[in-house]
Amino acid sequence: MTPPIPQSSPGAGYLACKDEIDAAIAEVLSSGWFILGKQTAAFEKEFAQFLGAGHSVGVGNGTDALELALRACDIGPGDAVLTVSHTAVATAAAIELAGATPVWVDIDPETFTMAPERLRETISEYEEAAVGKNLPLLKAILPVHLYGHPADMPAILEIARLHGLRVIEDCAQAHGATLNGKPVGTWGELAAFSFYPTKNLGALGDGGAVVTNDPALAEKLRLLREYGWQERYVSRLPGMNTRLDEMQSAVLRVKLRHLAADNARRRDIARQYDEALAATPLRLPRISSQAESVYHQYVIRTERRDELKAQLQAAGVGTLIHYPVPIHQQPAYAGRCYQSLHGLPHTEQAAREILSLPMYPQLTNESVNQVCDLLLRWCN
Ligand SMILES: Cc1ncc(COP(=O)(O)O)c(C=O)c1O
Repeated sequence: MTPPIPQSSPGAGYLACKDEIDAAIAEVLSSGWFILGKQTAAFEKEFAQFLGAGHSVGVGNGTDALELALRACDIGPGDAVLTVSHTAVATAAAIELAGATPVWVDIDPETFTMAPERLRETISEYEEAAVGKNLPLLKAILPVHLYGHPADMPAILEIARLHGLRVIEDCAQAHGATLNGKPVGTWGELAAFSFYPTKNLGALGDGGAVVTNDPALAEKLRLLREYGWQERYVSRLPGMNTRLDEMQSAVLRVKLRHLAADNARRRDIARQYDEALAATPLRLPRISSQAESVYHQYVIRTERRDELKAQLQAAGVGTLIHYPVPIHQQPAYAGRCYQSLHGLPHTEQAAREILSLPMYPQLTNESVNQVCDLLLRWCN
């Protein structure tokens, strides 16, 4: 009996650099300083450098990073934000936490990211529907680089420019992904990252960051993350409390040094899946030209998804569905937010067919082969 293969393994990520992490944590413990100190300042600088961005502001998690990015743009009640329904619910939750309303845009079925054509169509339909009505005003576009694959940023930025909309990127699943050689997180005005343990850059708890090239926005974010304090105990803005702590920052500094190699290993695993499964009827991930994915997930498609998932589970192989119910169909959101008259057919079809195979840097070639053998047998 071979040991089970999990879909992801943050524990293996820790063990891979345990000595370095343990030493970094010991340093924080002996410093006696746990919130907003040297480690967070150093991580913010190193993460901004890694991306080639001007500033990075550490916060409590990725959802807060999105909310804070929206708030920094003064987006709130009475405003609408164009985003996708095929994403983690956090994307929509953050828009509503800021007080704004999501407007759904369908995805490109090949890349699972916001389809520029559908974005254009949704904006013009929404603007027409808003005439004479009290609908929230479109203020921003929030594309998600889902599964580590960059959204079509040049097209999205052009549409944003034409309509005077701001662009905030959801980079929670795409640390290090690039488009035309330019990292995601440096295309929009602001970008939000999550350091949830399973992410490509994962902490040993919650963490997040907002990235921007604009020094004034960076300054505003620093205020907003800590009660709006300009100086201690005096709030200049109504802010929140969402800080990346010293312990997680120290861990992330270690993990950041391994990120490029970890992403390369994910691409290597993806290549092995691609080659082994090429001749099967399974639909494999497609990477658009000029894009470099960091394969946060390796997502295949089949109409017999549930059957395949059960079969793999029975053989000890963990898989997940990211995500089984599109946000616009979840009880908390159903019927509340605007969507195109054409509906969201690609979003809904993806939710029925997708399956995320095991994917994490410490996954061995032997385990990848085992998963591929099971898939090949299932297909024949
Ligand atoms: C696409 C996306 N956006 C936002 C988030 C929110 O991040 P967090 O879980 O750190 O709040 C996540 C992570 O779950 C995510 O996958």
